[in-house]
Amino acid sequence: MTSQYIYCSCQNGAQHVLKNEILSVWPTFRTAFSRPGFVTFKVPADFPANSLPTLNLKSTFARTSGIGLGKITNDDQTEMVQQLVAELPLEQLPTLKHVHVWQRDPVLPGNRDFEPGRNELTDKIASEIAAKLQAINLSTDPSNTSTAALASANRIAKADEAILDVIMVEPNQWWFGWHQATTTVSRWPGGIYSIRLPEHAVSRAYLKMAEALQWARLPIAAQDVVAEIGSAPGGSCQILLENDFKVIGIDPAQMHTSLLEHPNFTHVRHKAAEMRRSGFSNIKWIMSDSNVVPNYTLDSVEHIVTRDDINIRGMLLTLKLTNWELAKELPQYLDRIRSWGYQYIRTRQLAFNRREICVAVMKSRAIRRIKRRRKKQRS
Ligand SMILES: C[S@@+](CC[C@H](N)C(=O)[O-])C[C@H]1O[C@@H](n2cnc3c(N)ncnc32)[C@H](O)[C@@H]1O
Repeated sequence: MTSQYIYCSCQNGAQHVLKNEILSVWPTFRTAFSRPGFVTFKVPADFPANSLPTLNLKSTFARTSGIGLGKITNDDQTEMVQQLVAELPLEQLPTLKHVHVWQRDPVLPGNRDFEPGRNELTDKIASEIAAKLQAINLSTDPSNTSTAALASANRIAKADEAILDVIMVEPNQWWFGWHQATTTVSRWPGGIYSIRLPEHAVSRAYLKMAEALQWARLPIAAQDVVAEIGSAPGGSCQILLENDFKVIGIDPAQMHTSLLEHPNFTHVRHKAAEMRRSGFSNIKWIMSDSNVVPNYTLDSVEHIVTRDDINIRGMLLTLKLTNWELAKELPQYLDRIRSWGYQYIRTRQLAFNRREICVAVMKSRAIRRIKRRRKKQRS
């Protein structure tokens, strides 16, 4: 491929919705090479090239993206590293401060023990590439031995730093390109929050909530009351408690005993719609992770968020895409959330999401107006 192109990585299986989404926002882009979990788009020649390193694709399904520089095909990994570094047009690039190497997702996260993220192999290759880049940096400027001049391997980048991305699309086929760190997720290798499921976690929802909190950065303060709809067995409540929040788990199913014993945890063993109308006026944040279709999830959340005695500041909602067709309904789901008076909404398919997405929602002043209007209508 000689013309300019961008690459996106996504969940294995999400490539079709990702293509539709990108082409609807960027109608002049054209899809090019793709594999499950990795998609490239040809960018028109007149597209301003200097905007590409920091391009915000406004995508729910792209974990990360960058400007394509080429691909290497070889069966020998040592040779691949050498070939890759030799092919980098370093004189046309800013100083590369980071090397991020990741593998295309082989299966859906959570299947066959697979979880996205760094591993021994990707870290080893990233270190080898970084060492070669450092040797080049030092040979061009031997006095420059400061750490800032050295590329680091599979670490979180700082804002504005230039990152070399190497995507192991197949063991013997690596694609490479670069991007400049802007958003929180564009600083993570492969757009994946680096975390492993700890021994004590009672479900993999632990990973999902850990990543959601890091991505959304909602201003939840220690001791704030957070309610989770669909909380059993309790992985996500565990990470909420580890963040020093007070947690209410709403679920008719049984919570793990370690949660029930925690002094900051309360179990409401009901469906969300059956929650008593009083007694929970201190809830400030809602999380939702029910295994039901999105509109039913939104019914449950609406039941709580529109109550007069509760003032919800923000939410992290998991919407299950029980089939990929539901991705087309996303604008309607977001309209419904806006109708409750929440204007600040972002969506992302998290690396640890399965076939679902995360919606981060923050309050606007309008919620008060809606509540006042409803009160007036009732009186
Ligand atoms: C994927 S599991 C949740 C995993 C959980 N977040 C964790 O951290 O372990 C989905 C849960 O949603 C619950 N659920 C389904 N409909 C619900 C409703 N209307 N209200 C509350 N919980 C509901 C189910 O009982 C089930 O335990």
